[in-house]
Amino acid sequence: MTVVYAGVEKWRKISDRIDARMSELLPPESEVPGALHAAMRYAALSPGKRVRPMLCLAFATACGADDKVALDAACAIEMVHAFSLIHDDLPAIDNDDLRRGRPTCHKQFTEAIAILAGDALFALSGEIMLSTGNVEACKILAAAVRRLVQGEMLDVLSEGQEINPETLRFIHVNKTGALIAASCAIGALLADAPPELVAKATEYGEAIGLAFQIADDVLNVEGDPSQTGKSVGSDAERKKATYPALYGLADAKAKALELAAEAEDCLTVFPGDVEPLRALARFSIERLH
Ligand code: IPE
Ligand code: IPE
Ligand code: MG
Ligand code: MG
Repeated sequence: MTVVYAGVEKWRKISDRIDARMSELLPPESEVPGALHAAMRYAALSPGKRVRPMLCLAFATACGADDKVALDAACAIEMVHAFSLIHDDLPAIDNDDLRRGRPTCHKQFTEAIAILAGDALFALSGEIMLSTGNVEACKILAAAVRRLVQGEMLDVLSEGQEINPETLRFIHVNKTGALIAASCAIGALLADAPPELVAKATEYGEAIGLAFQIADDVLNVEGDPSQTGKSVGSDAERKKATYPALYGLADAKAKALELAAEAEDCLTVFPGDVEPLRALARFSIERLH
């Protein structure tokens, strides 16, 4: 799987900085128990898009700060994301074998190791967030994880059920939108932005978060597994609640487009460079992986 951002080569450099810092923050495999630490590193450092930490850094810049102020928090957020993916792929939840073009964590290691590696990544993210000293940022991340779990819970309970638009929206804004919105808010908070800017960052994040999950649903229908690095068609097989299933592909895509435009409208109030955030809004819906 290749990780390509339409024309934005400098993003690869940002993603390399995130990975270098995550690698320092993660326990080495040489530390006992080696299998736990190997699984944590496997899940967190495998080639994902790093959208959430990039959003966090981009909002720090948009608020006029050096993005270094948000680097550790950005890594903590990506570790939460990695934990959520490990647990999402487990046989008891989505039962997926492929993630980021590689065997899922439980396939590569064992279910027990994967469950514990997810738990440990979540705990480590808490340690890192606390060491930023920003209590509000810690609360926002913890609340987002609780929303993520609520979304995952309803996602599982809705398999094979007829669901209404409100429930589908609840699933998507929580399982995916919450962490994306928190990534944006935390970047602004660590830049010492005033509450109005933190609120606008959150609004942008909620809009692209929902758009991002609709795009994920669309890719599960018509994506190319060699690009997405995950199995295609699995949502229909498991009778998942998705936007294409409820509204059809064309309306799902139109909704994602509308949300990305709403997100871009939030960017006018920021004092710093918002071009990366415009690009990330478009990327969230145009992506092929
Ligand atoms: C996958 O997230 C799960 C969703 C919330 C849609 P990403 O599409 O950000 O996955 P990676 O991190 O790039 O693998
Ligand atoms: C993504 O759920 C949300 C979380 C993992 C919290 P999905 O099950 O829709 O995402 P993929 O398609 O497995 O990445
Ligand atoms: Mg899932
Ligand atoms: Mg899944």
